Amino acid sequence: MPGTSTVLVGLQYGDEGKGRILDKLLKSNPDDKVVARFNGGPNAGHTVKEGESELKLHQIPSGVLDQNAILYIATGCVINPEKLVAEIGDIERIGKQFNRDLSLNGRLFISSKVTLIQPHQQLLDGINGMTLGTTGNGIGYAYAGKALRKERDFLRSLRLGDYLADSSNCQKSSELNLLEVLNEHPILNRRTALESLDQFNGAIGKLQSYVSFDPLFLEKKVRAGLDVFFEGAQAFMLDVDHGTYPFVTSSNTVAGAAYVGGDLSPKYHHKTIGVAKAIMSRVGNGPFVSEFGGEKSEIYCMEDGGKAHTKPQESAAYNPQELLNSKDQFELGIALRMLGNEYGATTGRPRRLGMLDLVQLKQACALNGVDELYINKFDQLALFRETVPPGVPVVTGYVLGGKEIDYVPASSEAYRRVDPIITYLPHLPEISHLRQYNGLPQQVKTLISFIEDFVEVKIHGIGVGPERDEFVDTSPEERMR
Ligand code: GDP
Ligand code: IMO
Ligand code: MG
Repeated sequence: MPGTSTVLVGLQYGDEGKGRILDKLLKSNPDDKVVARFNGGPNAGHTVKEGESELKLHQIPSGVLDQNAILYIATGCVINPEKLVAEIGDIERIGKQFNRDLSLNGRLFISSKVTLIQPHQQLLDGINGMTLGTTGNGIGYAYAGKALRKERDFLRSLRLGDYLADSSNCQKSSELNLLEVLNEHPILNRRTALESLDQFNGAIGKLQSYVSFDPLFLEKKVRAGLDVFFEGAQAFMLDVDHGTYPFVTSSNTVAGAAYVGGDLSPKYHHKTIGVAKAIMSRVGNGPFVSEFGGEKSEIYCMEDGGKAHTKPQESAAYNPQELLNSKDQFELGIALRMLGNEYGATTGRPRRLGMLDLVQLKQACALNGVDELYINKFDQLALFRETVPPGVPVVTGYVLGGKEIDYVPASSEAYRRVDPIITYLPHLPEISHLRQYNGLPQQVKTLISFIEDFVEVKIHGIGVGPERDEFVDTSPEERMR
């Protein structure tokens, strides 16, 4: 019997807790399997937390903690070789520290067709990505270069396998590109930039043993009976086609993209899992209808490229308990960020926070074809006990130009003009200690049903804390017990 394929994606603006839900699903599946990434690169940051050990994964799939999982970085990804080598080293070190075999030799495979993020592309993103608030990793330049298909010159894109086949030419091409960028931007530190080129070339050498040249790598695994789990990076509202363009990433994040970038046909598709957060977040610029404090929060969080209000700065400046009672939604947003530890896993930037937007979530569930929904941070909803007015706020409608609409407008400019219709639901008690559906207070069950009725998908689990086991299974089977 061949195995099946499951696709897990984020449904909001990223950082929904995809990594920890994937980790949870794998734990309940003891068989051998493959966990694969099909899009994105070092812009992703997925946290899996267990006691003292906290893994922040960027390019390596979160299945790394499951020793029965083969890890695969598929063709649709872009990689930063130097950061990838460093991540491999970090994971192996953490494994030793916690007495776990996390060695990646013979477990990690990288498609030879992934696109390399070249040093000059990262530099250009650092200079020009500010207006969008990119992560500065060169993601857009790497994907754009791939789409342009130049054989030589400044815009030439490099794939890992092509580089390995003709390394001296590829090194020259990357060096010429870098020199051109340095000539155009004399303020850049030339020595550091040239060092980064050496590191780039050196790191590719270290990745050689992980490269798979077999286009049927995954197909063969599935035929041999292994299940595949695709771990999406970023999220639906950051999809280059379906998200809040141009305030998006440069790849397709929608579930269907797993069968484009993932090196497997849709033939084995079994189910689609969507992950959301009960208090939403966004890093970077762009529309966010349910944001606490609206535009003021966006400007504040993105000040100095997101460096002005990081965790240490906010901790020194504010008392979150006091701000929680504030009538000012902007201050409430600061309190929720501090109490929920919402700072970027990749960049450390403060995440903009907003209430759960059900109009957006319903659209995301439909266009991704979500079969099972997971919602993290349900524990944080207890904070709305103390807010003004008390109660859990959720967005249940949009108004644009005086008319009610039930969809996300295609244009970001129009989306910025949408006013949310907010419904306040009864506030929740503290639930972070609970682990069983049957033990959940009635208000929590009522909220779960309310969301399910709105988005028309069943919620199969809720996060009640950031730790690996702080989770309640709410699947229909569990409810029948
Ligand atoms: P990903 O990129 O989707 O994997 O998510 P990240 O790891 O970047 O961000 C999710 C953040 O939310 C992390 O800081 C997690 O520790 C935290 N988190 C996830 N689930 C929960 C939850 O149920 N409760 C709380 N309090 N925090 C959570
Ligand atoms: P995970 O996988 C949250 C955002 C950036 C920026 C925009 C474009 O951890 O959920 P890019 O560097 O991709 O060109 O930036 O997309 N962004 C993310 N936001 N989580 C992510 O990944 C993100 N990856 C990119 O902040 O607004
Ligand atoms: Mg993240």
